Amino acid sequence: MAKSKFEYVRLFEADDRCLPNTWIVVRVDGKGFHKFSTEHEYEKPNDIKALSLMNRAAMSVMEEFKDVCLAYGQSDEYSFVFRKETQAYSRRSAKLSTNVCSLFTSAFVYYWNEYFPTSKPRYPPVFDGRTVLYPSNQNIRDYLSWRQADCHINNLYNTTFWTLILKGGLTPAEAESKLKGTLSGDKNEILFSQFGINYNTEPEMLRKGTVLVRRKIPVALPNGGTREKSQIVQEHVDIIGDEFWNTNSHLLTVT
Ligand code: GTP
Ligand code: MG
Repeated sequence: MAKSKFEYVRLFEADDRCLPNTWIVVRVDGKGFHKFSTEHEYEKPNDIKALSLMNRAAMSVMEEFKDVCLAYGQSDEYSFVFRKETQAYSRRSAKLSTNVCSLFTSAFVYYWNEYFPTSKPRYPPVFDGRTVLYPSNQNIRDYLSWRQADCHINNLYNTTFWTLILKGGLTPAEAESKLKGTLSGDKNEILFSQFGINYNTEPEMLRKGTVLVRRKIPVALPNGGTREKSQIVQEHVDIIGDEFWNTNSHLLTVT
């Protein structure tokens, strides 16, 4: 087919293919969710419905992108780890981040009503998305550890902060100054001695975030017997230590 004289402008498009044989992570993060969570009356410090909606949106991404072997989410963010050798979109960085981000955002709105049956989003939520490459298995593990440590630090702080306000009657400014300079042991102590709360028994989804992985689950056949079916499952487990990676060594192995 004859090309138009305008065809040359295609050359202005940069080649953004990700380096081969590296882990590709696409992370999405809610834009201005401090405001979004307030406007939509998210419970403080954690809203189980909102976090479950995030998990549902992330499931949609994993259902569509089969090369995502693991996803990790907490607060208003989700990270999607593509297999090292994925050829999805010829590894084009913008294709990966925009498709993941767009699907995540539309699924967040699509499933909103299942988690917030009595309200509509007051305005369209926005998520940003980025693609980051990690060359070694240690790097990808450290990346995920970084996000889970962030979850732990923020959740312990937020739990103590809001307990001081909601149960202790402090103002936000008073709670902030009480927590200034405290270490995690101090916050655990405040929760336990003043409010009888053992932080370690708080729900795991809040303390550890959510890991999505594919597992082979036996399903019953109509004529008896079972067959294994791959399913995406949600787990709220530690991914910083070795145990998870020893039990799931296939995740880091090139197939
Ligand atoms: P940008 O990402 O830079 O646009 O800012 P942001 O306002 O989204 O802040 P950030 O991503 O750093 O943090 C997420 C914010 O979302 C938190 O600070 C909370 O204010 C809010 N948030 C996330 N999850 C919950 C929740 O379960 N309950 C409540 N109340 N707020 C939440
Ligand atoms: Mg955000």
